[in-house]
Amino acid sequence: MQNKVTSAFQAHFQRPPEVVVRAPGRVNLLGGHTDYNAGYVLPVAVDRAAWVAAAPIGAREARVHALDLEDKAVFSLTPVPRAEGNWADYVRGVAWALQERGLETAGLEAVLTSSIPVGAGLSSSAAIEVAFAHTWQRFAGFELTRRELALTCQRAENDYVGVNCGILDQMASSCGVEGRALLLDCRTLETNLVPLPAGVAIVVADTGARRRLASSEYNVRRAQCERAVKILSERLPGVRALRDVSAGDLERLKGHLPEVVYRRARHIVSDNARVLRAAEALREGDVATVGALMKACHVSLRDDYEVSAPELDVLAEAAWEMESCYGARLTGAGFGGCIVALVAADGAPDFEVHVSAAYEAVFDRQPDIYICRSTTGVRAIPHA
Ligand code: GLA
Repeated sequence: MQNKVTSAFQAHFQRPPEVVVRAPGRVNLLGGHTDYNAGYVLPVAVDRAAWVAAAPIGAREARVHALDLEDKAVFSLTPVPRAEGNWADYVRGVAWALQERGLETAGLEAVLTSSIPVGAGLSSSAAIEVAFAHTWQRFAGFELTRRELALTCQRAENDYVGVNCGILDQMASSCGVEGRALLLDCRTLETNLVPLPAGVAIVVADTGARRRLASSEYNVRRAQCERAVKILSERLPGVRALRDVSAGDLERLKGHLPEVVYRRARHIVSDNARVLRAAEALREGDVATVGALMKACHVSLRDDYEVSAPELDVLAEAAWEMESCYGARLTGAGFGGCIVALVAADGAPDFEVHVSAAYEAVFDRQPDIYICRSTTGVRAIPHA
């Protein structure tokens, strides 16, 4: 990827890039939809990544070539124009969000390529944002912490692109560490690194299904969670988010909530507990417990939160059938996209065969399956 993006830059702009930046995608082992409820998540940055090769220019504009799409965007930085509803919004949005923070954005030319499948729930858009934020940081010389960088990219996504996501994806792409899962408290943004077990493969299986419904349903879930908080906080002083609600209090007050709202809240409350338990289990090297929690998470997302899809359920169920599989769940927002599974490394080839066959038997096509390596968050790669 590094050579590809470097030589593409050279070919397009007739000079070598000044910097090559790589920002990873992520899987999330546990904590589905808990991020915007001020809760906990447990992502792993993976070796599918967005790559940017770039060099500064004198003009106050950005010239960005998207290699995979064979498309080009040129836009002014004074001011950044409005969103257009295409891939370049992730780049423009970052420039906009940096400027909103009062930071300088240098003119640049860049080539972008990515190995993260788009819309699959592996944070392809966050990786682009984080890669460009890091690139601008290098050129303009300002210094953001990884946390601030993630927040700036989330702002770009929320207020420029117009997607109301939480902080999970941008934090994972900024702060991930090789060999570790990132236990993230989405209220305080405190991170704790948790060791990943040796001899266990992180396997991703992509349904290939992409649902348009995803973003509208995502907002519906957010609103249902807010509704739960509003009702519960009238009876539980100090409750600001579902993060603050215990399972006991939720059961006690369940009669005050509409049934659907109760189930949404039950998913969030139970999943927050699962994240903390899983982090503990990982520290103890107890992968079986982590796997059981992943399965419980999928069931809860399917039945209580209702963000699964038949394609995801078929993949998850096929995964659970394999003895080599500790656990599996949908990753990302749901409705389509991928499952993530923890699989004993020597069982991974059989796992792949079984899951593919089970999926093909129902949907008449094969899922894309790949083994991911954990990796480190955004950084500039030294190049010749
Ligand atoms: C998407 C969003 C994240 C998070 C997940 C669900 O990936 O971008 O902020 O809410 O869905 O866990």
